[in-house]
Amino acid sequence: MDYKSDHEKNMKKERTFLMIKPEGVEQGLIGEIIGRFERKGFKIVAMKLLKISREVAEKQYEEHRGKDFFEGLVSYMSSAPTVSMVIEGENAIGVAREMAGATDPKLAKPGTIRGDYGIDIQRNMIHASDSEEAAKREISIHFPDITG
Ligand code: CMP
Repeated sequence: MDYKSDHEKNMKKERTFLMIKPEGVEQGLIGEIIGRFERKGFKIVAMKLLKISREVAEKQYEEHRGKDFFEGLVSYMSSAPTVSMVIEGENAIGVAREMAGATDPKLAKPGTIRGDYGIDIQRNMIHASDSEEAAKREISIHFPDITG
């Protein structure tokens, strides 16, 4: 017999990849942003602060290669330190995307990270993986030696 409610059946323990963008580090918002995920109950399973290389930024945003914003995006993301992390929890991928808000801060709702702190579409404060495949791929790019 399965005694789980529909709600419980829809819950799925996942990992997702997040990156606080250069403007978040620059503006001293690291603690504020990480705190939101901690208070939501997510566990941080890996984290690092560093200036990523252009090559890593290109890998991260491979799906956008060829788009008019690609060059600017990879230059920007490799221009100054960012915070990369992996968080874990129920429905982490979708919940983190909701907490991040719409890509364009002008359209992001108040209470979301981009809605509260985003500056423009490039400087939108945070990246969060948009699917299971993307989460796996992005985690392996930034944390290839993750074990637990
Ligand atoms: P992110 O979630 O990190 O994924 C791709 C990023 O490209 C996105 O957030 C934006 O910061 C950036 N970007 C810049 N210009 C655009 C655009 N016109 N449309 C979508 N994303 C853009």
